[in-house]
Amino acid sequence: MKGAAERIAELRAQIARHNRLYYELDRPEISDAEYDRLMQELRALERAHPKLLTADSPTQRVGAPPSGKFAKVRHAVPMLSLANALAPEDVVAFVERVRRFLGLEGGEPIDFTAEPKIDGLSLSLRYERGGLARGATRGDGTEGEDVTPNVKAVRGIPRTLEGGDAPEVCEVRGEVYMMKSAFLALNAQQEAAGRPVFANPRNSAAGSLRQLDPAVTASRPLEFFAYAWGEMTALPARTQWGMLEWFARHGLKTNPLARLCHSVEELLEFHREIELVRATLDYDIDGVVYKVDRLDWQERLGFVSRDPRWAVAHKFPAQKATTLVKAIEVQVGRTGALTPVAKLAPVSVGGVVVSNATLNNEDHIRELDVRVGDTVTIQRAGDVIPQVLGVVRERRPAGARRYVFPRTCPCPLATAVVRDRTAAGEEGRIARCSGELACPYQRIEHLRHFVSRRAFDIDGLGERQIALFYEKGWIREPADLFELAARNPTIKLEEQEGFGETSARKLFAAIEARRTVPLERFIHALGIRHVGETTARALARGYGSWPALREACSRLAAGHAEARLEMDALDQIGETVVDSIAAYFSDRHNVQMVERLARQVRIRDAERPAQDSPLAGKTVVFTGHLEHLSREEAKALAERCGATVSGSVSRKTDWVVAGREAGSKLRRAGELGVQVIDEAQFLALTGTAA
Ligand code: IVH
Repeated sequence: MKGAAERIAELRAQIARHNRLYYELDRPEISDAEYDRLMQELRALERAHPKLLTADSPTQRVGAPPSGKFAKVRHAVPMLSLANALAPEDVVAFVERVRRFLGLEGGEPIDFTAEPKIDGLSLSLRYERGGLARGATRGDGTEGEDVTPNVKAVRGIPRTLEGGDAPEVCEVRGEVYMMKSAFLALNAQQEAAGRPVFANPRNSAAGSLRQLDPAVTASRPLEFFAYAWGEMTALPARTQWGMLEWFARHGLKTNPLARLCHSVEELLEFHREIELVRATLDYDIDGVVYKVDRLDWQERLGFVSRDPRWAVAHKFPAQKATTLVKAIEVQVGRTGALTPVAKLAPVSVGGVVVSNATLNNEDHIRELDVRVGDTVTIQRAGDVIPQVLGVVRERRPAGARRYVFPRTCPCPLATAVVRDRTAAGEEGRIARCSGELACPYQRIEHLRHFVSRRAFDIDGLGERQIALFYEKGWIREPADLFELAARNPTIKLEEQEGFGETSARKLFAAIEARRTVPLERFIHALGIRHVGETTARALARGYGSWPALREACSRLAAGHAEARLEMDALDQIGETVVDSIAAYFSDRHNVQMVERLARQVRIRDAERPAQDSPLAGKTVVFTGHLEHLSREEAKALAERCGATVSGSVSRKTDWVVAGREAGSKLRRAGELGVQVIDEAQFLALTGTAA
């Protein structure tokens, strides 16, 4: 049994490390619940041994990291992200795409609002009858955290909207940020008080907002810029620009640099100008945002996945730094892909401390000839993992040896490594451990993916716990998780190092809470290659229920051509995905694993969008030229009404929408006896007037 003093020291060191990961690096390794557990244990020990309590203990500090105690809020209107444009060509392409989608002639002008892209965190403020009723963080875009008391403590956010004419419900969205000067002053204060300092203004704004004690938030100099909205019972303007003006007139701050632009040239000019003044601004920005000004056009343009078609973020070039490569390690991903990672001497890149950077793959290391001991340039662009760009040759130490990529997996089985093949049979860039599900590293990664936030979202199961459970042989595959509680009389989790009665009970409760799962999460959690969140959602919508999807996958794996066509016809799904799903369900072990899991959980049918539309659940094929809608817009409209749009006519097609000069598809519809309608009838079905 460890002495109390020793355990206390260990806990303080662990907590200090997690504070650093959270505050400085914005890269927490453990869940809030696990963090709480460490704090609770420390508090209990200090209570039992008051002599060991010191002033610098993390328990004596105000403003610990958030502890998962904020209530969840479902956003009435999802909070979206933005597609990125990196080069001027991307901006030109964006404008052309908007033009094409709206079916506008080349000469017709489109106005855009251009705004700086603030590097803070987005927030949704709900005003009811003019009064601030709720503040919520973005979270995953669908569900955020209720931070109302904290939001009320932010000085730049009015408690009531001015003017007395606000719509009944008015959800204002924008960015919370901290001035650079205020951030430096806060860090100086933190340092003087022996508290952790923040790595950059963004982390410090996030840390300040997500405080359990709103008094702490109030003491931090946070600011807010309004730039978007969620639920609105009435829209007070018809343009983005008009909305910004309306916000400003009602007591909300809007960015003074925003500008109304009338052409691509003006957009690019705005980008250039803002990049020039960037360093002189007292807040961090990482690019500019362009938005189609007319709100009726925004409405028509709609979204692709989570990104609006009517807006784009034009980023500034990435920030770079040079540092030393201390080691090169190989990490095994969930699909067995081996990713070499450079372990670096920590360096600050654009305000964030970086100590790892990806080297992508074997060829990349060879091409750059990166060696241990080399000085390298690295870059960090947006949220992506830092990358190694190149070697500073002059600084290579004598005797540095060429890096040899391992031929075996670093896992205990040391299975052979094989290179992927492209469709044409050429060697691909990715090296994979051939052990598949026998490789413990892959299994562990697979389990980590399974419990992660966007998949089954099981709280309290971090990397360490999964590795432990795996090592003990308690969980080898997802289904085992759901049997853990029943097997506990023999396992006795509460007696394991790092667990207690409460934490074991909490974990079992967290697992139990996920026994019912939406179909899309279930699919995403399986970790099939190329099947991410968006694809999973498309599959869920397309098939509706697990039995239907399961059936389709079996037929696909058995090589049924029709099953293949059917899946391929779904929006967002292409050949690669279909091949990958076919391969996955052709493997007996995978099928067994999925079946076992499906018996343990209840899989909720997909929410069919707009059930009340006559198009819901129907399959539609478009052919010929339409008068009022571009092809892309028609497809999006049909999908919004819950229809599936297919590229070819089959017996399963419900309607063929024929425009001018329709050809072979129209003939095929005639042959198969599929009902043909025109554009006006289609618009009537969608409830839209031409
Ligand atoms: S508009 C549907 N405007 O950037 C449009 N976003 O990459 C949603 N952001 O989550 C966002 N400044 O946190 C918009 N002027 C601005 C912005 C801005 C910063 C952030 C926001 C968003 C992220 C998307």
